[in-house]
Amino acid sequence: MGGRPERVSLNVTDARLRRGARDIPLRPKDVAILQLLIAHQGRLVTKEALLAAAWPDVFVSDAVLKVAINRLRTALGDDARTPRLIETRHRRGYCLVGKISLVDAPALEAPEAAAVPRLPEARAIVGREAELAQLEEWFAHAAGGSRQLVFVTGEAGLGKTALVDLLLESPNVRGVRVGRGQCVEQHGAGEAYLPILDALGHLCRGLGGAAIKRRLARHAPSWLAQMPGLLRPDDAVNLRRRTGNATRERMLRELVETLDVLAREHPLVLVVEDLHWSDPSTLDALGALARRRDRARLFVLATYRPEETAAA
Ligand SMILES: Nc1ncnc2c1ncn2[C@@H]1O[C@H](COP(=O)(O)OP(=O)(O)OP(=O)(O)O)[C@@H](O)[C@H]1O
Ligand SMILES: [Mg+2]
Repeated sequence: MGGRPERVSLNVTDARLRRGARDIPLRPKDVAILQLLIAHQGRLVTKEALLAAAWPDVFVSDAVLKVAINRLRTALGDDARTPRLIETRHRRGYCLVGKISLVDAPALEAPEAAAVPRLPEARAIVGREAELAQLEEWFAHAAGGSRQLVFVTGEAGLGKTALVDLLLESPNVRGVRVGRGQCVEQHGAGEAYLPILDALGHLCRGLGGAAIKRRLARHAPSWLAQMPGLLRPDDAVNLRRRTGNATRERMLRELVETLDVLAREHPLVLVVEDLHWSDPSTLDALGALARRRDRARLFVLATYRPEETAAA
């Protein structure tokens, strides 16, 4: 584009980004990340430091941080390949290379706006009754033992994630084991199985997590070996020694078998978000899971933007 760079400022109190004439709301986690980057402007901030700042009490994988950084880049109009603001330091962290100023004054409100009650944090989702009923029906089939692979598609911001959230909170699904994984935009082929690792990590930290971890140790050691956050350091080293460099084929076999075992015990929901950014191995895995003939109480739900798959 060239020309004079836009002025960018972050308003921490209001969680808003001002970029030129634009005023963009940010999520609280993204504010925490950007604040730390601004505090260390021009210097590397490690992934660990960013994760600790935004998610102080829970373990989350690097993939979640990547997603947050991608969201920030979109809000900032920045590009990972030719960054003006947030630069990736491969495997280590991120660095704010441009200038973002901090403003901390609450935005001025028009007097009449003050009389209008503020919308609650979680906005009510409207007009999705039919879609929700359809998903609930398919989930019921899965819970009865006939596995289902369902795609929720629609352009960016149409409400795919919101619909998935609605389903997971609905009375029949609440209390079921859920693993949720996020695909992130990567350049090149992308790291194999990243969203599935993310989903398994989520499963192991959720309902019945300890039992799920034992199943992974038994049936999917090469997966568990790649989830060091779930293991004690010496267990991780032993497991990696035992599994060596697992091939993608072996990992696929282990995954399919483990999910079958788990879905025989309890209904299991696997959510893969933003499949348009998936690596090829993840697509293979979803295909393999869908093609299996054995009965399993498995519900796989994937979201994607069709326009991005067409472009890819
Ligand atoms: N039916 C709805 N009623 C009210 N608000 C909605 C509805 N659907 C989505 N929203 C709101 O719109 C915003 C975008 O929705 P959401 O994140 O679910 O989109 P998405 O399709 O998952 O987008 P992306 O492709 O970027 O992941 C959210 O703030 C969400 O709460
Ligand atoms: Mg979404």
